[in-house]
Amino acid sequence: MQPVNIGIAGLGTVGAGTVNVLVRNAGEISRRAGRDINVTHAAVRDLSRTRDCDTTGLCLGDDPFALAGNDAIDVLVETIGGTDVAREVVLKAIASGKHVVTANKALIAIHGNEIFSAAQRQGTIVAFEAAVAGGIPVIKSIREGLAGNRIEWLAGIINGTCNYILTEMRDHGSDFAAVLKQAQALGYAEADPDFDVGGIDAAHKLTILASIAFGIPLQFERVYCEGISHITPDDLRYADEMDMQIKHLGIARGTDYGIELRVHPTLLPKKRLLANVDGVMNAIQIYGDAVGSTLHCGAGAGAEPTASAVVADLVDVVRALTTDPGNRVPHLAFQPGLLADVPVLAMEQTETAYYLRLAVLNRPGVLAEITRILGDSNISIEAILQKGSGKHEQVLPVIIVTQQTREAGINEALMKIERLDSVKAPVVRIRMEQFA
Ligand code: HSE
Repeated sequence: MQPVNIGIAGLGTVGAGTVNVLVRNAGEISRRAGRDINVTHAAVRDLSRTRDCDTTGLCLGDDPFALAGNDAIDVLVETIGGTDVAREVVLKAIASGKHVVTANKALIAIHGNEIFSAAQRQGTIVAFEAAVAGGIPVIKSIREGLAGNRIEWLAGIINGTCNYILTEMRDHGSDFAAVLKQAQALGYAEADPDFDVGGIDAAHKLTILASIAFGIPLQFERVYCEGISHITPDDLRYADEMDMQIKHLGIARGTDYGIELRVHPTLLPKKRLLANVDGVMNAIQIYGDAVGSTLHCGAGAGAEPTASAVVADLVDVVRALTTDPGNRVPHLAFQPGLLADVPVLAMEQTETAYYLRLAVLNRPGVLAEITRILGDSNISIEAILQKGSGKHEQVLPVIIVTQQTREAGINEALMKIERLDSVKAPVVRIRMEQFA
């Protein structure tokens, strides 16, 4: 059989990793795909830069659009990143009848609906396993392995940088800013680290996971997104004292009223497997009505783990080259005409338990005032912990754990609590989940 020719747009970390894996494992890959897969062309921004892969024999250019339209290639691998040029290059490749493999989560989360419609019209494949959780084959697991289930919820540690920072803060008591610098030096963080620590990167990935789990269009703009910069080593210590861990999670949950889509730091019991995934590792727990709970864990970033997913997509594309486009696995797991119009709930409509950290004056009656406000908003308290025993009128931290309640009620109660003159700082709230 004729080899399949690949063009790579972008030979940075992931692009170079893909070349290396394809060359090193060429024999195994060819036995799996039934044909050789050769990278023949690449487009890079700076032709003079040294690459982390052997470029001998590669046709190198600096125009990704020329690459996307080049009839010498069968599949375009997009590893440019960003959403502007990448979108146009991918649309051009599709219009030229090429299949596309991309590692670009922002591109799929924001422009995926448009890109998949274009691919559908052209009968081409756009594969994106590497866009979520690097090397973990979670897209394939949900789309194919769990196809018999009604997915009830999923929750994932899908940003390695946040997981690394929270783990370091917990284990060494270091503060947020110092650990962020370490994560940047280690190369885990996005070019703009706010994408990581502000939760945007996780929101891109959650958008994709939720879409294929629930069969809904990609709706990045509906994801509630909160980062980790307000978490202190004290919060991690108090969580530990309660036998809980704080993890930055993306959560998608089907309810009777719609789908919750939220990214935020979350307290969860230490005994859950997900709570024990530390450092830069990623993990996604998925609950399907037939299978129950499954956990998918592994490296969420890095050259070769991400290349592992890109190459797996290439093998899938090569195997499907001769199939009828109407009989392929749908991009978003469900038939394109049958995506559901289920509403994504506003954050105020979501329900969870809360950890509240307050800075209050040590004065008789303060807790009574606070608990009265919570009671008036119909919020039940699970536990109260006063940390330290300062002098009269000194500021002390108090932790209140609530039972499950609506976010709207908590918002209303916190507004009133923060107006009390005995409460000396904005209340820190961290949502709490049991995942039982
Ligand atoms: N910055 C991302 C992370 C890389 O920290 O998980 C992979 O998307």
